[in-house]
Amino acid sequence: MGLDASEKYREGCFGGCLDPVMTHDSPIEEEGRSDMKRKMKTYAIYNIKGGVGKTTISVNLAFLSALDGKRTLIWDLDPQGGTSYYLNVRPKIKGGVDKFVRTKSDIENLLRMTGYPNLDILPSDISYRRMDHLIRKTADKKPIRMLETRVKPLRKNYDHLILDCPPDLSMVAENVFRMADVLVVPLIPTTLSLRAYNRLVRFLVKNKINKSLRVLPFFNQVNENKPIHRVVTRNVRDKHPIFLNTAVPESNVIEAMGVKRAPVFSYARESAESNTLKDLWQEIKERSKD
Ligand SMILES: Nc1ncnc2c1ncn2[C@@H]1O[C@H](COP(=O)(O)OP(=O)(O)OP(=O)(O)O)[C@@H](O)[C@H]1O
Ligand SMILES: [Mg+2]
Repeated sequence: MGLDASEKYREGCFGGCLDPVMTHDSPIEEEGRSDMKRKMKTYAIYNIKGGVGKTTISVNLAFLSALDGKRTLIWDLDPQGGTSYYLNVRPKIKGGVDKFVRTKSDIENLLRMTGYPNLDILPSDISYRRMDHLIRKTADKKPIRMLETRVKPLRKNYDHLILDCPPDLSMVAENVFRMADVLVVPLIPTTLSLRAYNRLVRFLVKNKINKSLRVLPFFNQVNENKPIHRVVTRNVRDKHPIFLNTAVPESNVIEAMGVKRAPVFSYARESAESNTLKDLWQEIKERSKD
């Protein structure tokens, strides 16, 4: 299936970890990262490609994390504000993201409750489209750690941070790769998707970003009636154990989130889809145990 870069993963640390070249101590650990990991675990939902289900999965995983009793924060990093929309939170940030980046304004003022127990959100608004540009221009000594620095005051308040990321390999993405413990990558089972995933892996390996990052790809929007979906899903999972076993089907129940503006579990608790999402969260937790 042309997953050559993926072969650079080896079984062991997380059912596949980054190239052995990345087993050296990383600068993040030197800067007290181990303390951050102990306090708050960061799951980034990311793919270079758009429309693969990043926002859909982020919202449901955040909900399930909160349901576990974990104090959970979801950070909508996308100017489209899909997470804020699904969780019914007004996408308006006082002063816009410019103020947040330039003045290091108090991040706690930007927190919003979602109405679900244990689940808070940092919403995004349209000003987030300037985030990449602003990070590049920031006076911070380490622009690639800017998001990590800004979120630092919240470490003590939350067990889990879920990042809904915009598509593309931007500075925002580089920040995300450095601050995350786990990179959950939803993929639609097509050859183009696998190509994009390979690009991501190559980028991580080449740039030696965050050796302790656990990359967990899985298939979303799987339609068993499509031969290409069947072939890709089976072949890839057989050959590449790094892929999660749980595959999320293409489903009207999941798509209805756009109308319900709520996580699937909250309006279809007993559905097969809710069970699959629970399996997905369970597998992610198991595969990302320290
Ligand atoms: N498993 C699924 N079954 C049916 N529809 C789905 C599923 N997952 C996502 N979708 C639908 O696919 C569309 C894109 O999903 P989503 O917005 O979560 O993707 P995204 O990767 O966040 O997109 P973007 O890159 O634009 O941020 C939405 O309409 C969503 O409802
Ligand atoms: Mg999205």
